[in-house]
Amino acid sequence: MSYAIIGFGAVGQALAAMFARKGIEISVASRRPPEALAAQAKAIGPTVTPKTLEDALEADVIMLAVPFWQHRDVAGVRGSWQGKIVIDVTNAYGVPVEDLGGLPSSVVIAQAFSGAQLVKAFNHLPAATLAAAPAVNGGRRVIFVASDDDTGAASVKAGGTTWVRAGLARKTRGGRHARAGTGPELDASDFPGFLQAGAVKMYDHVIWPERYDPKNSAIYALNDIDVKAPAEVVWKLLVEAENWSSYFPPEDQVHILNDTRELMLGTRYSRMTVGFPMSLTVTECEPFRRLAWATTVDGDETGSSAYHGWVITPTDEGCHVLTEETQQGDFFLDILGHKHPGGLYRYHQDWVERLAQAAEAEVANKAG
Ligand SMILES: NC(=O)c1ccc[n+]([C@@H]2O[C@H](COP(=O)([O-])OP(=O)(O)OC[C@H]3O[C@@H](n4cnc5c(N)ncnc54)[C@H](OP(=O)(O)O)[C@@H]3O)[C@@H](O)[C@H]2O)c1
Repeated sequence: MSYAIIGFGAVGQALAAMFARKGIEISVASRRPPEALAAQAKAIGPTVTPKTLEDALEADVIMLAVPFWQHRDVAGVRGSWQGKIVIDVTNAYGVPVEDLGGLPSSVVIAQAFSGAQLVKAFNHLPAATLAAAPAVNGGRRVIFVASDDDTGAASVKAGGTTWVRAGLARKTRGGRHARAGTGPELDASDFPGFLQAGAVKMYDHVIWPERYDPKNSAIYALNDIDVKAPAEVVWKLLVEAENWSSYFPPEDQVHILNDTRELMLGTRYSRMTVGFPMSLTVTECEPFRRLAWATTVDGDETGSSAYHGWVITPTDEGCHVLTEETQQGDFFLDILGHKHPGGLYRYHQDWVERLAQAAEAEVANKAG
């Protein structure tokens, strides 16, 4: 992996210092020739190399640290961005929402760098804070990372740990910035290291029936986790739905209505979730890889529904588990969206963490 920072002002230099502290080679560029950046680059560290804009943009990972509208000039330098990772550090301060066509600024940038995988990061901290040591008052200052792909599902994976995942919030009302996700601590000093590990990575995601696509949904959550257990172990814990409560206590009222013990394609089952009875039908089932179901709320007259999928990807150490759900309609908006904002994300985070613990415990038991 090779890295470049485009824009060598306050933020560009703070980012360069992060890479320099880790001894990672990084190119820097602006509109000025490399010689004009040489003294400052040298002052930051020997791994910081000024290049022409064209040469710097050959890097695999490009951090965009230019004033917002300057992204268009940078985007115009190359004919194709296919295969590149662009980390958008810009903020659209002072840019009227109308000038962005009502889109979040990160989506405007993603469109300009069409073909690249866009990641939003670092923009929420002032340059000086970004450059400072992340340990503060006994805690660690975190950075937020958001990414997206065509269907709004992506993961930014960090050296074995998935840190933060969030869509780029195509549907934010009046918002112009990407919505930052929250997750386990990732501080600025970790970031170069996990990039170096080749770790910004996209996983397969849920295949949405059109009406359930995140673009058409009021509520959406994506959670994922690395599990040190084979996909087969995780799969069993997922399809034996009546047994979910053995590792995830809130799901203690699940009843499979067909004559099977496991979830399969077409299986109907019922659940009590947040105190409401739900009816569910399995709509996708690819053993050990993919499982999804559609949900309606019993007695609900608003036509509310939800779609929940799981994707398991084998990894060197076991598997990666990703789960996504979208919810539509007044029932979910009222019960979950308004009364428990963020509730769906937290519920699923708890679920994937307990699922991972249960799978890993099973592997440990067998080994022991
Ligand atoms: N400052 C902060 O605390 C902070 C924090 C988070 C995010 N941000 C965001 O980060 C971005 C950069 O902010 P900054 O404070 O670092 O700005 P800055 O100090 O003004 O630096 C901007 C850099 O971009 C370069 N540049 C401008 N147009 C360019 C182009 N077309 N191609 C290549 N390089 C170009 C400039 O160099 P030349 O003039 O030599 O081209 C300069 O090095 C902004 O979008 C800002 O909103 C800032």
